Amino acid sequence: MQQAEAIVYYFIDPMIETDIERVQEIEQQSFSTHWSANTYRNELRNPSNNRYIVGKASPVPPPPREERNPDTSGRGFLSNVLSVLLGASSETPDIRYFIVGYGGLWTCVDEAHITTIAVDPIYRGRGIGELLLNGLIDQALSTNADLLTLEVRISNVVAQQLYLKYGFHPFGKRTRYYTDNGEDALIMSTDSIQSKSYQERLYELRGLLFERLRQEAADTPVKSATDIAAASYPRRY
Ligand SMILES: CC(C)(COP(=O)(O)OP(=O)(O)OC[C@H]1O[C@@H](n2cnc3c(N)ncnc32)[C@H](O)[C@@H]1OP(=O)(O)O)[C@@H](O)C(=O)NCCC(=O)NCCS
Repeated sequence: MQQAEAIVYYFIDPMIETDIERVQEIEQQSFSTHWSANTYRNELRNPSNNRYIVGKASPVPPPPREERNPDTSGRGFLSNVLSVLLGASSETPDIRYFIVGYGGLWTCVDEAHITTIAVDPIYRGRGIGELLLNGLIDQALSTNADLLTLEVRISNVVAQQLYLKYGFHPFGKRTRYYTDNGEDALIMSTDSIQSKSYQERLYELRGLLFERLRQEAADTPVKSATDIAAASYPRRY
């Protein structure tokens, strides 16, 4: 097997309407309450305030970001991820991309609020949640938000660890916030994401993440797009 065939590339794109069905599949596997397709469509209709992204896997390098999404080029970190992980390939082979996670945020004046983030259970523990969170932070930075906030179930220690790693700290509690089981929500918030200290830490973490994703890609025994499809969509292929 050639080295190139063994690599899985992870990258981020803006969520578009045709992604919703797959996003909902991951959501069903990740949360006990779900948004309807219409809710997602409405979220996507207001891109100035609502930013939604998907994480994708591919067995071959995707074309440069601006060729895939000409209207969304130049969004700092996302472009960086591509250039760091993938190099600046101008080839456009016959590629299939598979959505492995997604995330979203609302922006309002100087605050951005993470509404959702999830990774397909098959792909968890490989740095993709962290990649998505970085994508969301970059979206927040691009709107000049100063703070990032979110709510997370008190019992969701895994997600809390991810947020703590990226400078979120507990800020308060919403009692019986989750309607399915009456669980409390922990409110978490960053300090200023525009501050020098936050950005220095962010870039340090990103450096480590790039290295981890390179390693994950090199270690993944995938030979072809069909192999990824089989892992990602067992009921369909
Ligand atoms: C939370 C979630 C998005 C993390 O995605 P992931 O791809 O598995 O996470 P990553 O591999 O990128 O790990 C990033 C960090 O998350 C934390 N983390 C991930 N898995 C963990 C685990 N099993 N135990 C503790 N912490 C964990 C760690 O801080 C980790 O950093 P580290 O590797 O340096 O320790 C994923 O578990 C998920 O989709 N959960 C269900 C949906 C959900 O709960 N979303 C959050 C709603 S608020």
